[in-house]
Amino acid sequence: MPNLAFVNGTWSSLEDAKISIEDRGFQFGDGVYEVIRTYGRAIFGLSEHLARLKISADEIEISLPYSPSELESFIRQGCLDSQHKDTSIYIQLTRGVAPRSHAFPKGVQSTLVMTFRETTRIPTALREKGVSVISVPDMRWGRCHVKSLNLLPNVLAREEALRSGAYEAILVRDGIVTEGAGSNLFAVSGKKIMTTPIGASILSGITRKIVFQMGLEEGLDMRECPLVLEDLYRADELFITGTTVEVLPVVELDGKKIASGRPGKMTSLLQEAFQKYVQGKRTCKDSRVVKD
Ligand code: PDD
Repeated sequence: MPNLAFVNGTWSSLEDAKISIEDRGFQFGDGVYEVIRTYGRAIFGLSEHLARLKISADEIEISLPYSPSELESFIRQGCLDSQHKDTSIYIQLTRGVAPRSHAFPKGVQSTLVMTFRETTRIPTALREKGVSVISVPDMRWGRCHVKSLNLLPNVLAREEALRSGAYEAILVRDGIVTEGAGSNLFAVSGKKIMTTPIGASILSGITRKIVFQMGLEEGLDMRECPLVLEDLYRADELFITGTTVEVLPVVELDGKKIASGRPGKMTSLLQEAFQKYVQGKRTCKDSRVVKD
């Protein structure tokens, strides 16, 4: 089963795909990206991901070389041709190729790269038992709603987490919890299920949005509100969401157990709802798993 690449309209195997070393994505991290995954032939949140790509691109004034429907048909083709059971789709849009100089180059075509690789779901043991996380200072820029290629603070935070034996780093800025290095965070206190409000301090996660909406549809008390670290230590449950982690219980923070140290009821309920959703056994208002 081949891993495929698409570079500005040209398809190849992943190994044969090439871009210039003068690409501004490589030189400056001057671009934006998306990570999408499929469950079998169903593409999770495709229209939401494409809408977010457009928002990110607009925010930094890069024009998308294809319309959403053209992108959608390339994505479907990539998934079909790579023939994986489950596919991880990576989309990277950069300001294009130009001699290195900070300001925007004139008359340059943006670069659009997509890759289609085989993926698997997060191991069942992790989904059932949960993971530990650490808190670290959020060193990112002030426009985290843009899914920028500049991931150095996220990379360093995740590495610090892994080196301390944790699975994810939870980022804290000015005392306020923002999100994970590659995920959004929810805290449960009594019946309240809380997550950081949308804004420039977090990425508006597609999984976060779908889980939040499903929670509302289940009649749960879902809230967007700022959280401080103390709220997390005292929480009854914590979980993170994201394309790669789905709905993943967090049972330990900074070496301290969260409540009993086992995944809680609300998390399990939302995990079940999520599972049904990706299996096409339930829907969610405004969101759909797009099928071929
Ligand atoms: N990251 N917050 C951050 C900082 C992220 O990087 C991600 C996803 C999320 C979750 O968003 P979504 O539910 O739309 O995947 C939140 C991807 C998976 C990555 O960088 O690999």
